[in-house]
Amino acid sequence: MTVSSPLVRAIGAPPIPAARAWAARYRGQAGPAIDLTQAVPGYPPHPDLLAKLAEAAGTRAGASYGDIFGDEALRAALAGDLSRRYGAAFSAEQVSITAGCNLAFGMAMTAIAEPGAAVMLPAPWYFNHEMALRMQGVGVVPLPCRAEVGFVPDVEEAARLITPAVRAIVLVTPNNPTGAVYSPEVIAAFAKLCRARGLWLVLDETYRDFLPGEAAPHSLFSDPDWGEYVVHLYSFSKAYCVPGHRVGAIACGGALREQLAKVLDTMQICPPRAAQTALTWAVEGLRDWREGNKAIMAGRAAAFARVMAGVNDWQVDALGGYFAYLRLPEGAPDAMAAAEILASERGLMGLPGPFFGPGQERHIRLAFANAEEAAIALVPERLAGGLGGALESGD
Ligand SMILES: Cc1ncc(COP(=O)(O)O)c(C=O)c1O
Repeated sequence: MTVSSPLVRAIGAPPIPAARAWAARYRGQAGPAIDLTQAVPGYPPHPDLLAKLAEAAGTRAGASYGDIFGDEALRAALAGDLSRRYGAAFSAEQVSITAGCNLAFGMAMTAIAEPGAAVMLPAPWYFNHEMALRMQGVGVVPLPCRAEVGFVPDVEEAARLITPAVRAIVLVTPNNPTGAVYSPEVIAAFAKLCRARGLWLVLDETYRDFLPGEAAPHSLFSDPDWGEYVVHLYSFSKAYCVPGHRVGAIACGGALREQLAKVLDTMQICPPRAAQTALTWAVEGLRDWREGNKAIMAGRAAAFARVMAGVNDWQVDALGGYFAYLRLPEGAPDAMAAAEILASERGLMGLPGPFFGPGQERHIRLAFANAEEAAIALVPERLAGGLGGALESGD
């Protein structure tokens, strides 16, 4: 008897619990465990935000259904934030609030791609994107990215790989898993390609708040017609440190939003109410705090790059946002075995490249965002020595 969808059965188990199981075998022999698996900001949410969440959760409004597209006040607040960040004019009507960015992606894909269609994902990819597509019966066309160019996807190669089934190209910048930050020129080139070929460019900018500087990440929104070919995805999880409250967003044009309404209504009815109320305040209320966190993350990225500069055999092939993507030393076992050894014997937990798609056997992702600089300083000694087995150096 078939008890589950073959589409879902064909997908691998959720990767992060698998990596945590390796870590559960660690006995502390190399010092305190350093968990660089999941992309969570390693600092607490702001206490005022927690107070507002508690207050909103205790109201009748917080317990009731809300607008399908999300509360008008939060949509307007995010539209204001987007306008400021991208130097373009957004309206609340272009914004839909979702129960997290993962669901934003899944729902956007349901609106865009029918079963049997395909979506192009630069590889390595964010594993939940691939999983979401495959379980909807949508094919994945990999766009291989190369270490030599910092894992930035190549637009000409993308053009060559487009098949008649492809409905969209997805770019994640700053990238998960590599950390690569795509330049405005690269993003513009992909937008031009998508527009010319009648595809959607889906931009997941979950980590945009951690980009250094004030400059807009790209200029796509200065085109008054952007809504005809661009879909922007956002997450409140990282910037506001509230991943458990599940709030994300989709910004898109009116025609797609009309179709999206059916998907939002069916899959989430409305996004979480209390969190929306608290975040409406936080968009402006925590602007300075967010700037401070950006500086903390930049400090961690710099600290990671600094300590890794002294490590000769491991190569940092890309770094940015929350992540560094490391190439294993020559002669080391492949990434699955290496990540297991690092987690279970050295208390350094990262995710092996094969979790992020084909051709990643020689890479490991470390989410340095999770760790304070003192813990980052310990990474080189955990990486030192061969990965044949037991910890070889105790220094
Ligand atoms: C690229 C990317 N998109 C989406 C998400 C999920 O965000 P959310 O917690 O809003 O669902 C993550 C989380 O790691 C991510 O890295």
